[in-house]
Amino acid sequence: MDNSTRLQYLEAMGIDVWMPRVSAPVVANPTFELTSASDYAVREPELSNLSSSAWAELESEVTACTKCDLCQTRTHTVFGTGSKTADWMVIGEAPGQHEDEQGKPFVGKAGQLLTEMLRAVGLERDEVFITNILKCRPPGNRDPKPEEADSCSGYLRRQRELIKPKIILAVGRISAQTLLKTDVPVGKLRGKVHDLDGIPLVVVYHPAYLLRSLLEKRKAWQDLQLALQTINTIKG
Ligand code: URA
Repeated sequence: MDNSTRLQYLEAMGIDVWMPRVSAPVVANPTFELTSASDYAVREPELSNLSSSAWAELESEVTACTKCDLCQTRTHTVFGTGSKTADWMVIGEAPGQHEDEQGKPFVGKAGQLLTEMLRAVGLERDEVFITNILKCRPPGNRDPKPEEADSCSGYLRRQRELIKPKIILAVGRISAQTLLKTDVPVGKLRGKVHDLDGIPLVVVYHPAYLLRSLLEKRKAWQDLQLALQTINTIKG
């Protein structure tokens, strides 16, 4: 889909489009030529054999998981998508209906806004790793129960250890409170850089909340800027 069609779709759905503050200069007559499909691919560093097999094992464990009752109502587990060597790890709450149907995180309307938010800081979805606290959908999209989050926590920890992200974006209250083991309100957790086992963690409002509370979008933009500044400082 070309960019202008995409913008029209998003506009029609009532989703504001997030644009980077500074866009790349438009070149009237670009001189480069794309010679093969591989020119379009994101070039990922190769995973070692050890790391590939650890990922495969983890993914198949998640697919077969019966640690909690959510296995009885799920259609698909939602392991996560994106780069396994990403600098950014984006952690949401739990799959919803669309995610459960497709087996991928953040593919509904909130997911489209998340995609736009990432683009606003220059990131495509396949450059980051996106996952959730829970790998299975809670029926009716209710909040995850603490015991469900506990059952899933080992999977998320292993994902974190394999990816070794430079920054974690905790998306929404449940993600932030679960990761930081606190019940401090999300409005107090955002706006600062936390530490999760040595990895900087920034909290951002959940896009589903932003779709309902347009006034908070500015704060979400500030939080994304904070995350960007933090990672840029680390990278030097
Ligand atoms: N909300 C989330 O927190 N995660 C998803 O994958 C979808 C919606």
